[in-house]
Amino acid sequence: MTGTDQPLTVKENDLERALQILQEGGLVGMPTETVYGLAADATDARSIAHIYAAKSRPQFNPLIAHVDSLASAQLQGVFDSRAIALAKRFWPGPLTLVVPVNETATVAELARAGLPTIGLRVPAHPIARELLERFGKPLAAPSANPSGRISPTSAGDVAGAFGAEVSLVVDGGRSRAGIESTILSVLPGEPVRLLRPGAIPRESILEVVDALAEAVAGEVSAPGQLSSHYAPSAVVRLNAATPRRGEVWLGFGPACRTADANLSSSGDLVEAAANLYQMLRMLDTAGAATIAVAPIPSTGLGEAINDRLARAAAPRR
Ligand code: TXA
Ligand code: MG
Repeated sequence: MTGTDQPLTVKENDLERALQILQEGGLVGMPTETVYGLAADATDARSIAHIYAAKSRPQFNPLIAHVDSLASAQLQGVFDSRAIALAKRFWPGPLTLVVPVNETATVAELARAGLPTIGLRVPAHPIARELLERFGKPLAAPSANPSGRISPTSAGDVAGAFGAEVSLVVDGGRSRAGIESTILSVLPGEPVRLLRPGAIPRESILEVVDALAEAVAGEVSAPGQLSSHYAPSAVVRLNAATPRRGEVWLGFGPACRTADANLSSSGDLVEAAANLYQMLRMLDTAGAATIAVAPIPSTGLGEAINDRLARAAAPRR
């Protein structure tokens, strides 16, 4: 799905126009500090339906509602003391909390895919924040990539992936974190669960909660129930200490001097996360048949990076 029938407007900070499109039920590419989102009015089922259509996303996959503050989030979801502590520590920022839906919620049921829970996040990117404050309603925004493909970390990535369905992408520069938010569920009578490793490492979460349980297998969690996801067109081979003939090599650390691209030559996992999607996209666009990826340690942000790489390398649907 690379509709190129109409050129997409990519404008620097054109918020008036973005707000108007959102009011009219349209889709706007929105910068966030993690990846770019495909934003729509979360309270309007028709707008939500446009997101699913544009992403070719299975309807059972619920969307994250972005809000401007913890107070706004609490209108949508029920926050217990653990959820409040996590929100106070990490919002605004790359943490999504899945909590029970509040009876005062205005987010359309379609955005939650009919679940009794809701995923909420207060993003930190200044343009996302300004959009949310001025729009005055939650914005549903999944990552702005067609389902299963590499997530976008620049306005140009969004523009290249969608055609006329997305009439505006607000250019907020390269996404700082470059990897999606960490998703936790905080539900009554249950331990806090890690549904998706992401830009906030497990170690930081454990400074706020006593224990972190894993997602329950088979439940709607995040994203894509493993299988193929975040996939480039090329085959991806993991833990490649050296490339084989014909492969391009995505390195990590100072030992990978001959790599075609290096996620971080100094071995910095934060830098690697920020570069991950952009470098996969770059090697893929260059026409590689196989991308061999050097081993990445699994501490800190390495957990999220290895999670995304495992999905990129999974057998394709
Ligand atoms: O960093 C991010 O989180 C980006 C930016 C744009 O905010 N958004 C993002 O959205 O990654 P998306 O839709 O690509 O991934 C959100 C994941 C989905 O896989 C979905 O299954 C999960 O969040 N999710 C949302 N609401 C949920 C809920 N009520 N229960 C379980 N999982 C939920
Ligand atoms: Mg996504």
